[in-house]
Amino acid sequence: MALELGSRARAAGYGLAAFDAVGSTNAEALTAARGGERRSTWFVTTEQTAGRGRRQRTWVAPRGNLASSVLEVIEVAPSVAATLGFAAGLALERALRNVSIETLARGGADVDYALKWPNDVLGNKQKLSGILLEAEALADNRLAVVVGIGTNVIAAPEGTPYPATSLRALGIEVGAEDVFAALSDAWAECFGIWSNGRGFGDIRRLWLERAAGLGEQVSIQSGSSTVVGTFDGLDETGCMMIVTPSGARETIAAGDVYFGTAGSTGNR
Ligand code: BTN
Repeated sequence: MALELGSRARAAGYGLAAFDAVGSTNAEALTAARGGERRSTWFVTTEQTAGRGRRQRTWVAPRGNLASSVLEVIEVAPSVAATLGFAAGLALERALRNVSIETLARGGADVDYALKWPNDVLGNKQKLSGILLEAEALADNRLAVVVGIGTNVIAAPEGTPYPATSLRALGIEVGAEDVFAALSDAWAECFGIWSNGRGFGDIRRLWLERAAGLGEQVSIQSGSSTVVGTFDGLDETGCMMIVTPSGARETIAAGDVYFGTAGSTGNR
């Protein structure tokens, strides 16, 4: 089966560049933007050999996993574009729920999907996907934003700081093609809701409805510092809001979130 857009994405006019194997779909999307591509376009593969992750990590997708990046050329400030990561997490979570429902009739598992700040999707409390946003200013003052989404369809990396899993390990037997068709449709929907950032309030509300750990104890690690508190919501820019044990409110712009206290085992 080939990687193809869903019907909603096709109707919305999205383009598609599918690769048998490629270094990084984010890199391909940025190269296309530099070369003059202005159409909303997906860059996808089921084998990524030099993928980029958050915080300079790597994200390799062995054959059968889905590496996908969507290029959107928009006229917004970089800080507004950054909130697209929440639309991406929401879109992937919706897509995974939709493909999973279709597998229930043939014995598929009932998986609990949730969103982990800033934009991971969890399946039964383990990391199923990662999202990396990259952006470049264009000569016409617009911004080329690349939203890269990696989904563990058949395999998950081992030895990661946060436990990872795959759809297959969770009992969801689908192909990367099914996930991509559903994702491209859900993205068209969520990008529409986001509406050049004006709809971030709606995205935030929908994201929080699916958030992991809301109202619970979290610890956020950034470099050598760790902040502990109760996850209290997102501010209007997408920063995580927590209430510390002393009752102080803190706003967190970046970091790796662990549920419970850092250093504890279990659902980290
Ligand atoms: C993370 O570290 O959690 C984010 C990983 C993002 C990986 C995806 S796979 C598709 C796209 N292409 C890349 O090179 N990276 C992103």
